[in-house]
Amino acid sequence: MAFDVRAAAARVIGGVLAGNSLNQALPPMLARVGERDRGLLQQLCYGTLRHGPRLQATLGQLLDKPLRDKDRDIQGLLLCGLYQLDGMRTPDHAAVAATVGATRALKKQWAKSMTNAVLRRYLREREQVTRALDDAARACHPTWLYNTLLQQWPDFAASIIEANNQQPPMTLRVNRARLSRNEYLTTLAQEGIEARAGEVGPQAVMLSQPRDVLELPGFTAGLVSVQDEAAQMAALLLQCAPGERVLDACAAPGGKACHILELQPALGELVAMDVDEQRLQKVAENLQRLALSATLQAGDATAPPPELQSESFDRILVDAPCSASGVIRRHPDVKLLRQESDIPQLARQQLEILQGLWPLLKAGGTLLYATCSVLDEENSQVVQHFLASCKNAELCANNENWGQEMACGRQLLPTPGGHDGLFYALLRKTH
Ligand SMILES: C[S@@+](CC[C@H](N)C(=O)[O-])C[C@H]1O[C@@H](n2cnc3c(N)ncnc32)[C@H](O)[C@@H]1O
Repeated sequence: MAFDVRAAAARVIGGVLAGNSLNQALPPMLARVGERDRGLLQQLCYGTLRHGPRLQATLGQLLDKPLRDKDRDIQGLLLCGLYQLDGMRTPDHAAVAATVGATRALKKQWAKSMTNAVLRRYLREREQVTRALDDAARACHPTWLYNTLLQQWPDFAASIIEANNQQPPMTLRVNRARLSRNEYLTTLAQEGIEARAGEVGPQAVMLSQPRDVLELPGFTAGLVSVQDEAAQMAALLLQCAPGERVLDACAAPGGKACHILELQPALGELVAMDVDEQRLQKVAENLQRLALSATLQAGDATAPPPELQSESFDRILVDAPCSASGVIRRHPDVKLLRQESDIPQLARQQLEILQGLWPLLKAGGTLLYATCSVLDEENSQVVQHFLASCKNAELCANNENWGQEMACGRQLLPTPGGHDGLFYALLRKTH
């Protein structure tokens, strides 16, 4: 029998509260609920996490004492119940009854009356409880991130926060090797699919409504891929020439690697590396759908494998692991998982990756450093530290007309209804 959808959501959110990512916690539960409930399960999980900091602060006021770690599923259920009362169209009594009912599927009957009492108290005291929330909780952001955004982006914090709290648009990249963006927009219009051209990326198409990729004309045949518009700037900035050897050092799942190959069909070789061998399989699947080829290499960019010889690459793309603070609307679990103390640790790893890869670049070659972060500590400051530690690296001039110019690179900020937040810095090896 299919598992209760609210109990499934409670387990997913409980899993995130225990430190797992949504990508780890959600798929096993999607497989356990009935097919009809899968959309609702996703909506409950994404919605609850998107509003997570506000819901947690609200729940803190409604509970007499915090729940035990082993009852994170019940905490998840209560957060999900509060989300339904505020963020979904379910009538209050139905949302309460269904949430209380889920304690049975979770085999925690003791929590039945407590769940009922907490949700009913919220309905009675909603106004006072909401009034007592601080600004960060109201903005559905953890306090440290809220304060950092206000401090680093005083003029843009409100729009970053608004974008972070939205459902992201579905953006496509038209395969330039196969057809033009205008041709694809015409095909979509003929199929009755509403879409518009992106504003920054010349191959970007934004759909008015997300939909299953298999419903997109030509998806299976490789005419388009799903990729955010800001992420589409990487391959454009690299400007690979025919015959060049290129290393995509943090390549999985392969969005940017495939774009590089689409833009330069006469490339000498693209080596797509990732530390996570399982994720490299995703690169292989994407290459296959688009009928592209690359050399796949498992390896750690901080200490590259000996197969990658020094000074053997004309271009290197470093799409570094980061806080994901620029793509929160796509990964709302970041709001609960990411801690302020992670940022210096990530910055150290990013610097180590740059230092590990630099010897592989030929003299005169370029390396593009990219993150999906909006935090200066992971972006300009990493590049500054790298330049200070390296005698033959210089920052390339930056003539783009998009995004914000930073001390060492360019920042695209997450935009309501528009693109994600990504940072780019292009470095050249002088000798
Ligand atoms: C932002 S994602 C890359 C997205 C990819 N470039 C794309 O466009 O589809 C970062 C990737 O870096 C990989 N990674 C993390 N640490 C690494 C390391 N030390 N060496 C190589 N890859 C690493 C992760 O496994 C992850 O796949």
